[in-house]
Amino acid sequence: MKLEKSRRIIRVAKKILPGGSTFNKTAFFDEGKTPFCLVKGNKSEVTDIDGNNYTDFMNGLGCNLLGYNIGFINRAVEKEINNGCLLPFASDLEIQVAKKLKKLIPSAEMVRFGKNGSDVLTQAVKLSRYCTNKKHVIFGGYHGWHDWVIGSSSRSGGIPEAEKKISHKFIFNDFNSILKLHKKLNGNIACIVMDLVARYYPEKNFLKKVRDFCSKNKILLVFDEIVTGFRINKGGAQTFFKVTPDLSCFGKAMGNGMPISALVGKKQYMKKFNDVFYAMNFVGEKASLAAAKVTLDYYLKNDVAKEINKKGNFLSTQLKKIIKKYKLNNFIQIQGMSSRIIIGFKNNLDSDFLKKKSADIDQIVRFMIQTFAENKILCNLSVFINKSHSKKDLTKFAKIFDQICYKISNSKV
Ligand SMILES: Cc1ncc(COP(=O)(O)O)c(C=O)c1O
Repeated sequence: MKLEKSRRIIRVAKKILPGGSTFNKTAFFDEGKTPFCLVKGNKSEVTDIDGNNYTDFMNGLGCNLLGYNIGFINRAVEKEINNGCLLPFASDLEIQVAKKLKKLIPSAEMVRFGKNGSDVLTQAVKLSRYCTNKKHVIFGGYHGWHDWVIGSSSRSGGIPEAEKKISHKFIFNDFNSILKLHKKLNGNIACIVMDLVARYYPEKNFLKKVRDFCSKNKILLVFDEIVTGFRINKGGAQTFFKVTPDLSCFGKAMGNGMPISALVGKKQYMKKFNDVFYAMNFVGEKASLAAAKVTLDYYLKNDVAKEINKKGNFLSTQLKKIIKKYKLNNFIQIQGMSSRIIIGFKNNLDSDFLKKKSADIDQIVRFMIQTFAENKILCNLSVFINKSHSKKDLTKFAKIFDQICYKISNSKV
C-alpha cells in the first residue's frame, strides 16, 4: 500500500497539532502502516491523501447514515451557503427541523438545538438540575467530552474534584447499582443519563424499572440517542424499546455529517430554558439546519433504519459464524446493535486463550485494523453500517474478517 504522503504529513502534523490530530479515534491505527489523512468520501468509499480508496465502515463515526456526498443534501447546504450561512436572527429552518423531530420522536414536545452531542447532553444535565433542584448525576457510559462525564475516566486531567464528586457511573443492566447510588447520595439525584445500546441491549425489564424508579423519585430520565437516534429505529431507541424519557439527545446522523444536534423533551421541563442559559455563536447556522431538514425528511419518508439494520444483521450473522468456525467464541464477541456492530473482546484479559497466545488485546486490535486497511477497508472495530453499503461491501468485510480470525487462531499475530 502506497502511504508516502501519509508518512510525510505525520511529521509536519506533530509539530503543529498536539498528538498530530484533533481527531482522536485513530489511536490504534499504526502510523506509517495505515492511512493518516483522508481527502474525499463518496457513498461508502473514502480516499486517503495517497490516493488509496477504502470501503469505509467508520462512517464519520456513525454520522453519515446515508453515506458521503449525497446530492440532495449537498444542494440544500449549498443553497444556504449562497444565502449567507450565519445570520444574526433565527431562521424558519429551526421551526421546520423541530417539527420533523417532533414527528419522528415520541418524547419531542419541544426542541433545542446544539452543534454536537456533548452540547446537548450537558444541557440536559443542567436543565435536570434546575428542574429537580437536585445535584448529582448518574450516567452509564460515554456521553461526550465534558467534565461531568470525563471526571471518572483515566484522562480526567484539568477537571476539579468538586465536579468529580457530583457525577457517578452506574452499571448498565444492573438496577441494583442505581439503587446503591440512590442510597449513598440520599436521593439527591437530578437525572439518570443512559445510552440504550452501547455494547449490550437492555435486559428484560431494566428500562421499565429505571423509568418507574425515576418517576417515583422525581429524577429526570435522559436518553442519550446520539448513536441510536435514527439508527436503531427512525424514532430512536425510545421507539424501539417503547420507553419514554423526560429528555433525550440526538446528534450524529441528524444532519448526515453536518454539525447539528438536538435536545428534545417534555414541555414542562423544556420551557424552563427561560431560566437556564444556553446559547452559542454557531447554533443558528443554516447549512446544518438545512442538511437536517432534508435528512430528517428522508428518514420520515424512507425506513432507512430498517434497511441498515437488515444489512447489519446479515453482516453480524457472517461475523458470528466466522468466530465460531475458528473457535474464537471465548475471545472475540460481536456486541452493539445490528447497524453498529462492535467487534469486542470478552473482558477476561487473563483468559487461558490470551495466556496461550501471549499477545495482548491492543496488539490484536492493531493487527485487525491494519489488516483491514491493507485490504482497503477502513474500520476501527466499531462498525457503522450506512445506507450506501452494498452487499458486496459487507461480503468483502466478512472475507477479510475471516482472514484475520484465521491468523489469530493460528497464532500468526
Ligand atoms: C453515545 C454518545 N453520546 C455522546 C457523544 C458525544 O457526541 P459529540 O462527540 O458529538 O459531542 C458520543 C460521541 O460519539 C456518543 O457516542
